Amino acid sequence: MLKYLCLFIMLLIFTSCSNSNKPEEQTGNPETKQAGAYKPGFGEFMTYIQIHHAKLWFAGKNQNWKLAEFELDEITEIVEAIKTYQKEREETKVLQILDPAIDSVKNAIQKQSPKLFIQSFTDLTNTCNTCHHAVKFEFNVVKIPDTPPFSNQDFTLNDTSRKVQFK
Ligand code: HEC
Repeated sequence: MLKYLCLFIMLLIFTSCSNSNKPEEQTGNPETKQAGAYKPGFGEFMTYIQIHHAKLWFAGKNQNWKLAEFELDEITEIVEAIKTYQKEREETKVLQILDPAIDSVKNAIQKQSPKLFIQSFTDLTNTCNTCHHAVKFEFNVVKIPDTPPFSNQDFTLNDTSRKVQFK
């Protein structure tokens, strides 16, 4: 009997929780999100950009153009997220200086040109630092990475249907 009562209470809690989330989920509008809901800080968004910047490099260097395009899109999405969630920060207005550099990388990927990729990626990286200087965060120096950021992801163009094997 007690067991069933416990189950019933758990079910009640569960349904009331999911109901209270509904209106927020349905609107999908960040402006109407609950007050006090977690929002990543500017620096956290930058750390995400840093990860995709590194992945983009290894994808492009390996001429894995599909992955490179994906990583570049991730950067663009995070830039958009900063514009939405960090409107109040003065630095957000400066973000647009990335646009021409991002376009050049996109062009290099579309043309599948290793030479253009290296040039445009270098330009992109210099633009990151130009902004860091402009907004007085010049001590955050971005560079072209030497080693892949993660050892559990394959950046080379491989047969994607291949099964993972322990070597
Ligand atoms: C608006 C100009 C601007 C642009 C463009 C920009 N950043 Fe930043 N970045 C900042 C600011 C501001 C911070 C400090 C954020 C904070 O914590 O308040 C920062 C911090 C960082 C950090 C340090 C994060 C940490 O917590 O350790 C990294 C890494 C970084 N940026 C990478 C990049 C990369 C990579 C690019 C280019 C693809 C880039 N940034 C482009 C403004 C910019």
